[in-house]
Amino acid sequence: VPSDGFDAAEQRHRYARIELEDRLVLPDGFRADLVAVWGDPVADGRFGFNNDHLSFLSLGADRALLTVNFEYISARAWRQGYAEAVGGPLPFDAVIDALAPRGGRVDAASLAADDPLRATIRQLAEAAMADLGVGVIELERQPDGPWRRRPGRFDRRITGLSGWRDPAQRLGTTGPAAAVFRRRERLGYDDGLGDAIIGSFANCAGGETPWGTVLSAEENMQSQVAEAVHADGSSVSPAARPFAYDGQRLDGLGNPFGLAGNKYGWMVELDPRRPERTAVKHSWLGRFRHEAVAVKAVAGQPLVVYSGCDRHGGHLYRFVSDALIRDPADPANSELFSAGRLEVARFDPPGPDGGEGRGRWLPLEPTAPVAPLGPGHFARFGVEQAVLLPHSDRLKPGAEAFASDAAVAAYRRLFATLADLYPGEGEERMGAILIDAHLAACAIGATPCARPEDTVIDPLSGDLLIAFTAGGGSDDGRADPAIFRGPKGQATWPYGWIMGLADDGAEKAGAFRWRMVATGGAPWQGGLGFANPDNLAVDRLGTLWMVTDRSTKSADLDLFGNNSCWVLPSRGPHAGEAFCFATGPMECELTGPCFDASESTLFLAVQHPGEDHGTRPSAEAREAQAHRLVDRSGRAFEQLRWVPQGSNW
Ligand code: FEO
Ligand code: CA
Ligand code: CA
Ligand code: CA
Repeated sequence: VPSDGFDAAEQRHRYARIELEDRLVLPDGFRADLVAVWGDPVADGRFGFNNDHLSFLSLGADRALLTVNFEYISARAWRQGYAEAVGGPLPFDAVIDALAPRGGRVDAASLAADDPLRATIRQLAEAAMADLGVGVIELERQPDGPWRRRPGRFDRRITGLSGWRDPAQRLGTTGPAAAVFRRRERLGYDDGLGDAIIGSFANCAGGETPWGTVLSAEENMQSQVAEAVHADGSSVSPAARPFAYDGQRLDGLGNPFGLAGNKYGWMVELDPRRPERTAVKHSWLGRFRHEAVAVKAVAGQPLVVYSGCDRHGGHLYRFVSDALIRDPADPANSELFSAGRLEVARFDPPGPDGGEGRGRWLPLEPTAPVAPLGPGHFARFGVEQAVLLPHSDRLKPGAEAFASDAAVAAYRRLFATLADLYPGEGEERMGAILIDAHLAACAIGATPCARPEDTVIDPLSGDLLIAFTAGGGSDDGRADPAIFRGPKGQATWPYGWIMGLADDGAEKAGAFRWRMVATGGAPWQGGLGFANPDNLAVDRLGTLWMVTDRSTKSADLDLFGNNSCWVLPSRGPHAGEAFCFATGPMECELTGPCFDASESTLFLAVQHPGEDHGTRPSAEAREAQAHRLVDRSGRAFEQLRWVPQGSNW
């Protein structure tokens, strides 16, 4: 941090100087060393694609484990680089040709058993699933400082299909959803595996526990399997999410394998130091587009685990264990995930001074009263559930009907509590609620948020810090504008915030206070200069490290530059300011910031560089990209320099 401050003009100049270089740009005095890349062998698999969360676990002064999430496939870049990174041909062209007359999608199960397309799709989907999931790699510190890989017995891969061919590699389930997975009579689809799960994918953010395990969040599972479920928690048919290629993403990867949608969208716990121990999905933490996990483990208190759902209008959650923690470092604490309750945040607007607001955690339990927030929000809930619930005959009307006062009143007469929406019994009913946590949270009046992407605990204050990546909305939902407003009161603010949240003490159990601590946007818009905060890390001084994730198609590329890494001091003369530390290559997002034990090394993942135009763009692609910038900004683009890959490091 410069000692003499950092004025806005200098900061703007800095954007212009470094934002568009196609490499990782660091401040003077820092250097970057490459640790691992896609395709590197890891145990019986390989280092996967689009790495996100990173977790450092020390095994001593010079040895460590790094756990890495692999989120999704950017199909163009994946296809372009596959032969070099992984080796061997992919049947990509054959699949594209076959899908073209079918609108780019096909339900693999609907193909005749002897149709060669069936095997071809499966081969392509299997290759893609092998690049998703979670990996653990061993590291060794070199005498001159940098950490390097040293493949060893802890190296491990959990992929989207780990347990498909090898049942010993399946994942387990804790909590009430296991009862749903085991039940025999169900409204919908059964994969026949009971409470075992074939693998994990869409692994985005994550976190660590004080007892040395890693939590990996399954986020956008709706891309690969059907998200909607029946009122008893069972899945809809895998055909509802057919295998698809739209020119950019490979979707419906679960379809060729008949994966059950209700088994994805969970928080996964694994112990990097015990590769022989199966990873588990903890259903008490709920099923939604999981991101953002932060663990609060204090002796004598329940385990509290915060998490978020990264969809427009997704919610902020916390799990509270029934049992109390005795020793935060005790590996037996993993058992605390097996009994507790899931709660979801309802924020009250700030007072007239706009400062601190209050809020309340609402337990997701069968007796929770159904309390729709507003017509738009409620309509969304109604439409989805009306199709799926056994009561659907009485709820046929569409969104507009639900939005009317009469329809809302009728709905509330039918559904007074969550128990009316999820009519099962006992643990199976609780499991159905947890499986359908997003819609259940909508029903009880949780606040639709501005896409919570990551959470960390401030080590000094104990407060929760939350990155909300963007306000506004989509067909998915809408952030509540009473809470999420721009720096000048704008009703929708696309550049995001960082919020602080403090739980009140036992005497006001379930109440919390919140305040915005940093707002995105350009300085002259009232923001701190960054846009779309995503992953967070906090060092032991309490300084926040944050990486951004703006759409690679964003019209504001000229304004905010490539995605970047920022430093936000929370104390001292620069508290309340934000400093750009590093910028990534073109079309990437930087993800997974984490420190080694001495905080002398920052680990960063560079996710999806060259997602749209390739990491080694042709002259035409460079030209197209440059024109896009000029077209949208009207500004010169002489600074746009493409540095050949290989010189980056
Ligand atoms: Fe995978 Fe919400 O970022
Ligand atoms: Ca991402
Ligand atoms: Ca993220
Ligand atoms: Ca993101």
